[in-house]
Amino acid sequence: MISASAVTKRYAQGIEALKDVSFEIADGEMVFITGHSGAGKSTLFRLLAAIEKPTTGSIVVNGQNIAALRRSAIPYLRRKLGMIFQDQKLLFDRSVLDNVLLPLSIVGMPMREAQRRARAALDKVGLLERERARPIALSGGEQQRLAIARAVVNRPSLLLADEPTANLDSESASHILDIFRSFQQVGVTLVVATHDQQWLARFSPRVLRLEHGRLVGNDT
Ligand SMILES: Nc1ncnc2c1ncn2[C@@H]1O[C@H](COP(=O)(O)OP(=O)(O)OP(=O)(O)O)[C@@H](O)[C@H]1O
Ligand SMILES: [Mg+2]
Repeated sequence: MISASAVTKRYAQGIEALKDVSFEIADGEMVFITGHSGAGKSTLFRLLAAIEKPTTGSIVVNGQNIAALRRSAIPYLRRKLGMIFQDQKLLFDRSVLDNVLLPLSIVGMPMREAQRRARAALDKVGLLERERARPIALSGGEQQRLAIARAVVNRPSLLLADEPTANLDSESASHILDIFRSFQQVGVTLVVATHDQQWLARFSPRVLRLEHGRLVGNDT
């Protein structure tokens, strides 16, 4: 489902965030991305989500080389993809419900159906009661769960999560792990960047380890 080959990402000033990275991830697999701060994890996520293009190399997602994708094809790719960012990117001037509705209104889903879906997603992460709150009124763990609801409201087949439990206490982190487990059970492909040992213990996933932009480990 995902195949990266010889991917390099070079930023201005010659910083090479990724160097000759190749790997494959099968449908329904859960893979863990790890590595020190600055190793290239978030860069890899941005490439997988077609937010940025690799400098060289190819990334094939569902048979499409996203490195060579036309701009007009990107929304179609995103429809099948849910992304949880390291810095959440919530809209703080909108309600919890509006945050989850956003991806559905972008694809033009009728309001009634969109609200039904958004509420189902909020219910799944235990935030239905807070639908009218502003994100600022939520705790860190609740904001993280809101970001998850927004990422999955489109029912993506691929979920990319960049440090979804960073800065959370172990109880909130554990709740998020349970939510991910339920996605795994329905066949969603999950790629998760994290340093959290709970993930390893709970899922024993395959781990891709980055070091200064190079893939130095690819094992379970
Ligand atoms: N837009 C950019 N322009 C220039 N350099 C960048 C840019 N984005 C990332 N970098 C650099 O690329 C390298 C990898 O950054 P990245 O954010 O991918 O690391 P990371 O593994 O996610 O780190 P962390 O664990 O701190 O989130 C770093 O040296 C970073 O400074
Ligand atoms: Mg990062």
